[in-house]
Amino acid sequence: MANQDFLNEINKRRTFAIISHPDAGKTTITEKVLLHGRAIQTAGSVKGKGSSQHAKSDWMEMEKERGISVTTSVMQFPFNNCLVNLLDTPGHEDFSEDTYRTLTAVDSCLMVIDAAKGVEDRTRKLMEVTRLRDTPIVTFMNKMDRDTRDPMELLDEVEEELKMACAPVTWPIGCGKEFKGVYHIHRDEVILYQSGQGHTIQEVRIIKGIDNDAVTQAIGSVLAESVREEIELVLGAAHEFDKELFLAGELTPVYFGTALGNFGVDHILEGLTEWAPAPMPRATQDRDVIATEEKFSGFVFKIQANMDPKHRDRIAFMRVVSGKYEKSMKMRHVRLGKDVTISDAVTFMAGDRSAAEEAYAGDIIGLHNHGTIQIGDTFTQGEDMKFSGIPNFAPEMFRRIRLKDPLKQKQLLKGLVQLSEEGAVQVFRPLRNNDLIVGAVGVLQFEVVTARLKSEYKVEAIYESISVATARWVESDNTSKMIEFEKKAYDNLALDGGDNLTYIAPTMVNLNLAIERYPDVNFRKTREH
Ligand code: G4P
Repeated sequence: MANQDFLNEINKRRTFAIISHPDAGKTTITEKVLLHGRAIQTAGSVKGKGSSQHAKSDWMEMEKERGISVTTSVMQFPFNNCLVNLLDTPGHEDFSEDTYRTLTAVDSCLMVIDAAKGVEDRTRKLMEVTRLRDTPIVTFMNKMDRDTRDPMELLDEVEEELKMACAPVTWPIGCGKEFKGVYHIHRDEVILYQSGQGHTIQEVRIIKGIDNDAVTQAIGSVLAESVREEIELVLGAAHEFDKELFLAGELTPVYFGTALGNFGVDHILEGLTEWAPAPMPRATQDRDVIATEEKFSGFVFKIQANMDPKHRDRIAFMRVVSGKYEKSMKMRHVRLGKDVTISDAVTFMAGDRSAAEEAYAGDIIGLHNHGTIQIGDTFTQGEDMKFSGIPNFAPEMFRRIRLKDPLKQKQLLKGLVQLSEEGAVQVFRPLRNNDLIVGAVGVLQFEVVTARLKSEYKVEAIYESISVATARWVESDNTSKMIEFEKKAYDNLALDGGDNLTYIAPTMVNLNLAIERYPDVNFRKTREH
């Protein structure tokens, strides 16, 4: 029997990531979330004025770090008796397959929407990935301090476009210059907003009951009247929160606020810690592994190479699935069938990298990798099993790669295959010619690949444009149909870095025609390692 402390450690973990479109406010929210996490960590030791002082200096520290773009890949902090792990999802130029794969390593997501804009393209794409595991989603409508779209319309858009019922937990009172705060539906409280307090944890004024005269006094009788009417409508029309539907990824609790004004971020954290699941079971090929199993297990979902030539270390990020990591423990690297002693794993307490003494299911640890670890690798305490659900994602951008010195073709191929095993990029070799096509999810990856080819494999390569719109992994249970398909579609077929057959489509129209024409062939957007 596992002891109670061990069970408590695991059950208090909440591991999540933020999904959003660039500029919706992910970075700002992350800063505020850490502000709450850190401040609470020190609450009790510093009180009153001192605590806001403390919070402020933390915030400035973060701003400094933001300027030099530290790799805040994982941030761990305590909140509400929980230990929260927030995994970063690179979003701007650094958007990549890693962003997608990180979403396979969390138990819940926070979706941030710019309330002036509504559901945007990147959010749609990331939501598609969360669907692979029916991940529970908490929603934050951000930037209420600006003129926004009608809140009801925003909920309708989420419901229609993302196929998720919306259950508002808070409701905004005005927006833009008239933003006065939110009504907390579950607590029947009006929480008032004060602008210009974003750098600190605010002492907010809370009024019990929407019909309270104090509300009328605080926000004026006209606004109070219209808000009361609106809330009555919302209570009648919107979905009520239902935990089961939330855990099934079918319903999302919705919060409103402003990250910049640090208003509403604590409400989301309360929702996340209260409702989001503790570390979930994970499937292997043979069985589901439960987080509270005593034996340690985990899988690698991301490998980060340091581009700084002075620190050429690579870190493999491992999600601990079950049990506990302890310094100097022995683990089995299942794919290699090898037992290794890990004494220098890193953890990420509030963004600082430090040596891990211990880590529990739900946590992320970083392993120093000297080239032996690949994305999707499973580590256990002896059991030969392999976690599934850490796929490759079909690239969305393609370029032909060519050598400056044609004699180094072999090194180029070797480098590309290794970089693809690491998840940096994908490589495709068409059956009909000797081209090498590099595919990526984000544009920065192309630069990363040429830089690393040069420094690590001593080959100088350049890109040429190529008209490829997308790629799909192809397979079929019907051998004769597959042979026929391979013959007819030969010109569009290629092998990826792991020799898997892939259909390379010059246009989306071409892909859709092929899917129609060969109904016995599966065209897959993801491929398991
Ligand atoms: P991202 O990581 O999702 O890309 O977004 P980020 O937090 O960097 O926010 C994008 C811009 O939106 C930033 O302004 C940020 O200050 C602003 N922002 C975030 N939350 C709010 C909010 O609640 N209200 C308002 N009014 N603005 C918000 P910027 O001018 O592009 O960058 P910066 O120079 O201020 O950092």
